[in-house]
Amino acid sequence: MNLEYLSGFGNEFASEALPGALPVGQNSPQKAPYGLYTELFSGTAFTMVRSEARRTWLYRIQPSANHPAFSRLERQLAGGPLGAVTPNRLRWNPLDIPSEPTDFIDGLVGMVANSGSEKPSGISVYNYRANRSMERVFFNADGELLIVPEQGRLRIATELGVLDVEPLEIVVLPRGLKFRVELLDAQARGYVAENHGAPLRLPDLGPIGSNGLANPRDFLTPVAHYEDLKQPTTLVQKFLGELWACELDHSPLNVVAWHGNNVPYKYDLRRFNTLGTVSFDHPDPSIFTVLTSPTSTHGLANLDFVIFPPRWMVAENTFRPPWFHRNLMNEYMGLIQGAYDAKAEGFLPGGASLHSCMSAHGPDGETCTKAINVDLAPHKIDNTMAFMFETSQVLRPTQFALDCPQLQPSYDACWASLPATFNPNRR
Ligand SMILES: [Fe+2]
Repeated sequence: MNLEYLSGFGNEFASEALPGALPVGQNSPQKAPYGLYTELFSGTAFTMVRSEARRTWLYRIQPSANHPAFSRLERQLAGGPLGAVTPNRLRWNPLDIPSEPTDFIDGLVGMVANSGSEKPSGISVYNYRANRSMERVFFNADGELLIVPEQGRLRIATELGVLDVEPLEIVVLPRGLKFRVELLDAQARGYVAENHGAPLRLPDLGPIGSNGLANPRDFLTPVAHYEDLKQPTTLVQKFLGELWACELDHSPLNVVAWHGNNVPYKYDLRRFNTLGTVSFDHPDPSIFTVLTSPTSTHGLANLDFVIFPPRWMVAENTFRPPWFHRNLMNEYMGLIQGAYDAKAEGFLPGGASLHSCMSAHGPDGETCTKAINVDLAPHKIDNTMAFMFETSQVLRPTQFALDCPQLQPSYDACWASLPATFNPNRR
């Protein structure tokens, strides 16, 4: 399958899989071309200001309304309810990929969350592991999904078209969009942020100017592609955190043409135009923001997706690793590839760490000692791609995340080896 994409971010895209399937000059003609049904897919309230509004018009073989009642599934998402509050710094080894048949939905494991699914803000974070393609179709009524593969390529067939995504790429699926995740390799693993708040968008660039960081043209949206299949299909939805399903007699991925800006998209993290200091010190990590979901307080993110890509370190007379800090924001970190420059060991691809509001963190003892004593020269950090889901509300681990054997019992110890360097007699 040779996939095509439309380039841009936030555009009013239009695509048709059959010539002339898209009505011209109006959205809802009495008779849509080819006998298609018209359906409006709204990602924001109708009355949102124009710059915030997201909606797409769909021209489909059957309207989504043609479904029987949903029943609550016996098998719910793994991860369980949220566990006890903890201010402690937590770190997890990668979760194993199960040996029993596990598709993308069964493989989702709740790790941390800062709001209930019914709230209009906050995020929930999942890790996923899968070893077989979905045969069912899924949509998430609880929020937008940001998927960060760490292992295994995915083919994501959506209502609006098909996206292939591999590690070092990400994909964003609007709230409510129906999709099926197929595996292009034997197994897959990665991370998912479920964004209950305002949809993700590119950050403002301020004094950086009109270019840099993630550039709009590198975001790719699929072209229209439909399945005209009269075969039994299970449609699963997540609604207020619970999985419900119904049986259809057709594929719900049956949109022949569409136009609008409420669309799925993918982005290759290797295209991120990484900026940094060329003098001394280093900027705040917000310089690495790929996408952001704002809150109503200007500058305070509901979710920032931040990456730490390969980059040159050239700062003179500077402690070059990420500095020690305490932060209002809450940071769930993952690693897609290689090693992260603040940690000598213990933070593995597929693993994760949580640093909550005002919890002190920074480079571990080994990294710190090396950074203080090294002869500074231009140096390239290569073979690395860490990322952060950063959010303004405290993240609580799930009971699973607190109980699982992957939780490292002695994460705090990585800072215990910081040498005592203070000497009042030597300036
Ligand atoms: Fe941090």
